[in-house]
Amino acid sequence: MNDIILARALHVLAVVVWIGGVAMATTVILPAVRRGDLGPERLKAFQAIERRFVWQARVAVLVVGLSGIYMTARLDLWDRFRSVDFWWMHAMVAVWFIFAFVLFIGEPFILHGRFHRWAVSRPELAFGWLYKVHCVLLVLALITVFGAVAGSQGWALF
Ligand code: HEM
Repeated sequence: MNDIILARALHVLAVVVWIGGVAMATTVILPAVRRGDLGPERLKAFQAIERRFVWQARVAVLVVGLSGIYMTARLDLWDRFRSVDFWWMHAMVAVWFIFAFVLFIGEPFILHGRFHRWAVSRPELAFGWLYKVHCVLLVLALITVFGAVAGSQGWALF
């Protein structure tokens, strides 16, 4: 049983680093960058912060995914994916896939160059869009954390 306790502890620790960082970026850093509070070169300011956080987020996403799959397999929880009562299990996997796609494929291969060009030509629009996307992802992640903590303690919506 100790292995499951360890997996759960690592799972939650990595969720804290990852979603905590997303919350900080969305509610504190991006609004400051958008308003030019961190200097007139908004793209440079944003990239200096993003470059450092993106690796923390990538490692955290890997730890969350591996520990989550480990717990699901060890506790044989696959049946949960057949029931809407466990909507929060689906939410965890969905949020995980969205972020994994953005961090490992979207950011390095698609967004990096395009966002750079967009932020140079139309900064208001580009940073406004970036802020909105972060808000949507943060809300989804927070609902998921709430549902997972409450749901794993037996709290049911229906
Ligand atoms: C591949 C993706 C994931 C899998 C397979 C997975 C799987 C699991 C499992 C099996 C549990 C234990 C449930 C129980 O004890 O009944 C759990 C708990 C939890 N997960 Fe995930 N998870 C994943 C991603 C995520 C993500 C993306 C988040 C956050 C946004 C998250 C947040 C949590 C939280 C907060 C708990 C509750 C811990 C507790 O209160 O003990 N998980 N996860």
